[in-house]
Amino acid sequence: MIFTVAIDGPAAAGKGTISRAVAARFGFRHLDTGLLYRAVGALGGDPVAAARALSPEDLARDDLRTLEAGQAASRVAAIPEVRAALLDFQRRFARSEGGAVLDGRDIGTVICPEAEVKLFVTASPQVRAHRRWLEVGGDAAQVLAEVLERDARDMGRAEAPLRAAADAVVIDTSALGIDEAVEAACAVVAQRL
Ligand code: C5P
Repeated sequence: MIFTVAIDGPAAAGKGTISRAVAARFGFRHLDTGLLYRAVGALGGDPVAAARALSPEDLARDDLRTLEAGQAASRVAAIPEVRAALLDFQRRFARSEGGAVLDGRDIGTVICPEAEVKLFVTASPQVRAHRRWLEVGGDAAQVLAEVLERDARDMGRAEAPLRAAADAVVIDTSALGIDEAVEAACAVVAQRL
């Protein structure tokens, strides 16, 4: 069975948690596409060369979850050649046998416009910054500023900007608990299976 669940949305909206839970519930494979950009940013040097030579070991680095790695990722993600180098791998993953969940910024719009399910998972910047702050600590105002900066860069770039596909189901997690958000996502998938 070929079945793709595309989950897009801004940083810290709950995409990762929802994606893992949907994949586990339906027995699909899961790809966190943000990790690809984080690895390219963390490798340093020429980002286009890094994207073309990306290996599974690069994705397993333990420094990819930091705020700095997120900022570096969003800078290299604006480079068209970097995105082009990562396209085929993501498309093949999306259409591989057995069902796949991909989460990112452009899965429903660019990587897999034919996805059987498209979700746009979002939440207010304040709620997202608070969640991020609970994870990373530090100065709350600084965390909010970084969330807003990354939103502006991801939504404002010319190449594959963050936006909901016209046929995406929007899930606003601002006032939802994790379980409620997961159930809302699973209900959409179950309906289309
Ligand atoms: O989702 P995550 O926070 O790990 O993504 C890091 C950065 O990678 C995002 O801010 C975005 O700029 C970029 N990204 C992207 N397209 C994707 C996934 C991530 O441009 N499909």
